[in-house]
Amino acid sequence: MKRLALGILGSGKGSNCRAILENIRSGVLPAEVPVVISDVFDAPILDIAREFSVPNAYLPPGNFRTRLEPQVEMELVQMLRAAAVELVVLAGFMRVLKSPMLGAFQQRILNIHPSLLPKFPGLEAWKQALAAGDKVTGCTVHYVDEKIDHGDIIAQREVAILPNDTPESLHARIQLVEHELYPEVIARLCRERAS
Ligand code: GRF
Repeated sequence: MKRLALGILGSGKGSNCRAILENIRSGVLPAEVPVVISDVFDAPILDIAREFSVPNAYLPPGNFRTRLEPQVEMELVQMLRAAAVELVVLAGFMRVLKSPMLGAFQQRILNIHPSLLPKFPGLEAWKQALAAGDKVTGCTVHYVDEKIDHGDIIAQREVAILPNDTPESLHARIQLVEHELYPEVIARLCRERAS
């Protein structure tokens, strides 16, 4: 099967990136990762890319706090195109993407969010679910559009909220589910593309 070329973008820990790379290495996920890019110079996600011998780059984001400067976002498009990326995978990328990226990769940018969207978009969604007194939360893989944590939902998986959960324990359990769901969804998209 043809391998789908993924460009992974992240700002932090990179545990979802690791899960994707492990699934590729074990042969479960028919994809390849020609590039991992971070807007944070010393983000652990870049160390994970190096550990897996994946080309990686730090992209200085410019002076804006929540998005990339427009010329930087154009540079990002060029980097992804130069690496022949077919699907952009956001894995803890903490900046909102705007028209250069959304136009260049229409319905080809995925995100994973730690709640059952449309519930609890935004930061620390697991804390929002706890504060709401919900019994169930989960995670969502969706296409990225111009709104935050919005766009067509591809898949969701539930996680029970336990009576003695702390924000940390709940977040950790959601992440374990993310590490299964994200590679599964990407594998499904690879198979759909191939057929
Ligand atoms: C994940 O929990 C994801 O839901 C959110 O950012 C987090 C990234 O974690 N969008 P990691 O860097 O993959 O460990």
